[in-house]
Parts: sequence; C-alpha cells; structure tokens
Amino acid sequence: MTTIIQATPVLKLTDRINRIEPSATLAVVNEAEKLRQQGIDVVDFGAGEPHFPTPQHIKDAAIAAIQGNFTKYTSVGGTAELRDAIVHRHAVDFDSDYRREETIACVGGKHAIFNAIQVLVDHGDEVVLPVPYWVSFKDIVRYAGGDCALLETDESQDFRISAGMIERLLTPRTKLIILNSPCNPSGAVMSPESMSEVVRLAHERGIWVMSDECYVYLNYANRRFSVASLRDFKERMVIVGSLSKTYSMTGWRLGYALAPAPVISAMQKLQSQSTSNPTSIVQKAAVAALKGPQQCVSDMRAEYIKLRDHVVNGLRAIPGVKCTLPQGAFYTYPNISAFFGRSGIQSASELAGKLLREAHVATVPGEGFGTTDHIRVSYATSTAELDRGLERMRKFLAHL
Ligand SMILES: Cc1ncc(COP(=O)(O)O)c(C=O)c1O
Repeated sequence: MTTIIQATPVLKLTDRINRIEPSATLAVVNEAEKLRQQGIDVVDFGAGEPHFPTPQHIKDAAIAAIQGNFTKYTSVGGTAELRDAIVHRHAVDFDSDYRREETIACVGGKHAIFNAIQVLVDHGDEVVLPVPYWVSFKDIVRYAGGDCALLETDESQDFRISAGMIERLLTPRTKLIILNSPCNPSGAVMSPESMSEVVRLAHERGIWVMSDECYVYLNYANRRFSVASLRDFKERMVIVGSLSKTYSMTGWRLGYALAPAPVISAMQKLQSQSTSNPTSIVQKAAVAALKGPQQCVSDMRAEYIKLRDHVVNGLRAIPGVKCTLPQGAFYTYPNISAFFGRSGIQSASELAGKLLREAHVATVPGEGFGTTDHIRVSYATSTAELDRGLERMRKFLAHL
C-alpha cells in the first residue's frame, strides 16, 4: 500500500507585504487585552489615544446624520461641505491658504499618510525620517518600495532636529522628508524657525516635505504653528491632519491631507480603488467638530499639561529612570537603560514585556520607534490611574 503524504501548501505572499511588520503599538494593545480577558487588572500606559469622550455636539451631529438618512456613498475624497470645513479650519488656525481641490478626507490620518506616500514615493526613493519616529512611517515607506534614511537625534538635546542635520542625509535619491511635531513618541516639538529652515532647504533641493500635524493642537512649548503658513513653499508640501487626537475621535477614523491638487487627485484615485469615501456619518460629525466650538480642544490641552507634569515628576522620582520633559502630544519617553543587565533584562522590549506580565503595566518598548533605551508611557489617562501605574513601576523596577 502506498501512503500519500500531502505536502503542506506553501503560502506565497507578496514581496511588499513581507517587507512590513505589524504595528508595535497595536501589538501591546493586544497583549494587554489578552491579560484583561483573563481578569487581570492592567494599568494601560500603552494606548495612543485620548481618554476623554468625544464632545457631545460631535456625537449629536453623527446621530442627526443617521436620523436624516445621510447614510449613502459620498464623493471619494469627502463631501464638499467637509472639505471646505477642513481648509477653513486650517486657514483660521494656521494662516494657510488651500482650496477644496487641495484637500482630501481619509479614513484617519494614517490612511492619509499611506495614500500620500504611495503617491509620492517610488522604488529606490529615499525618505528622511527623524528618530524616534512614529511606528507606521517606516513600514508605509517600505511598502511603497522606498528606503528610510534615519536621522539620529540626541536625547540630551531634547531630540532636536535641524535643517543642517537633515542636509547631511540628503542624496540625489531623496524624495521626501517627514516631520512630526509634536512627535509621537518623544513629545518633542520643533520650533517654527527650525521647521521653516527645513522647508526652505527642501524647496531649494526639490524635495517634498510631509508634515504630520496629528498633535499640532497639543503643543505646550510655543505658538501653534504649521509649515502651511509658509505659503510660498506649498508646491512640494503635504500636510497631514487628523481629528483623532484633537477632538478625541480615534475610533471615528477621520483624517485629511492638504497638498497640491495633482497630489490630492492621485490620492483620490488610490482611495477610489480601496476604501472609497470615509463613513458618511463620520463626515457630518467631522464638520461639526471643525466648525463648532473649539473650547473642547483647549480644555483637553490644559488637562494634558497637568497630566504631563504629574507623570514626569512621578517618573523622575523613580531611581534609575531618566525622563526629558515632553513639549507636546501625550507621551513621555523615559530612558530605562539603567536597568539593562538586571534580572536578565537586555532591552527595552524585554523590560516592557516583564513590566506588563509581572507588574501589569502596559507601555510600548522603544524598538518600534527606532531607539533601544526607552519605553513610551502614554499619560492620556486619569491622575489616579497614573499614580497606580507609577507605583507599580516603582516597585517593579526597585526589585529588578
Ligand atoms: C504621529 C501620528 N501620526 C498619525 C497617526 C494616525 O492617527 P489616525 O489614523 O487615528 O488619524 C498617529 C496615531 O497614533 C500618530 O501618532
């Protein structure tokens, strides 16, 4: 009798999907969730989202949209009403000058970044990316076939980025420079002067700048600033914004880009073959957010400043932890390298893993953001929760 051995079929996935990794932040969220499902009380400093509820007037607009049957397809890049609201809000807050044809509404800021990079970056192109970087930039660039030229920054200089530092990385293949101020994960904020110098340099060299403004309203350092106010340099600039953090709307998925019309129409073409329009109901909510009272934005900002000071003081009080004062967003990026070599811990991911499994505090290890000595601690939570987590961290680190 002959035995037939069936070979396991080899799953051959595409080269482009094999070039990228799952988001490091989502991995932590999932692991913390698994512990919670086992009934474990986890203090969550891992999530990258506001703890505030979405403001009531925004929720009301979504409910009215459903009741009014605004539940059908819209134009791919968003309704005219929404696109006008995006450009108007940006013009009022940042002195920019865009038309409806120069904006697109996407399914979150990440989607806007994804679309823009697929449209601008080709195989072999280089993209300058300052370190530490938000996890998705690198993988989105790789998915497009591009290579990241990583710009190392110095923690002792508050992760400062200057045009001079960027200039040293430029090559004939450089296509794009990515800026993200305030920065996720470090909370570092670039001065308007430094940002303007980078834009001027890029303009001189014919290089694109993508400015990710997802945290632009959460700037605690200096005046609210967008490179879009440098109107003479718009030609090679893509501004990405999001309602996720500004209005505490992470789950609604609404982001946008502002860019020259040909780039926007290419992004629309891609969007027309993937997601189509962002959810119609969410678009109505977004109009309410952008056109309605903005007090909620400053109220949340004021609250984050208090939480930041609280968590930074708490972290600095833990022997061995070093922590710069973040100037924006809602993350601290403490240096925990003093603990390497203790209890077999050799890296930030080992420390974050042990901290989660043994002390039940979720943080994100720095490796996902391109640095080896840090963990990201999100302080978008209550003071009481910060205290609970800090106490657990203090005890855990003391016993390593
Ligand atoms: C720097 C940065 N850019 C973009 C995003 C995307 O946010 P969303 O897709 O929710 O708009 C995030 C989310 O964490 C972020 O931190």
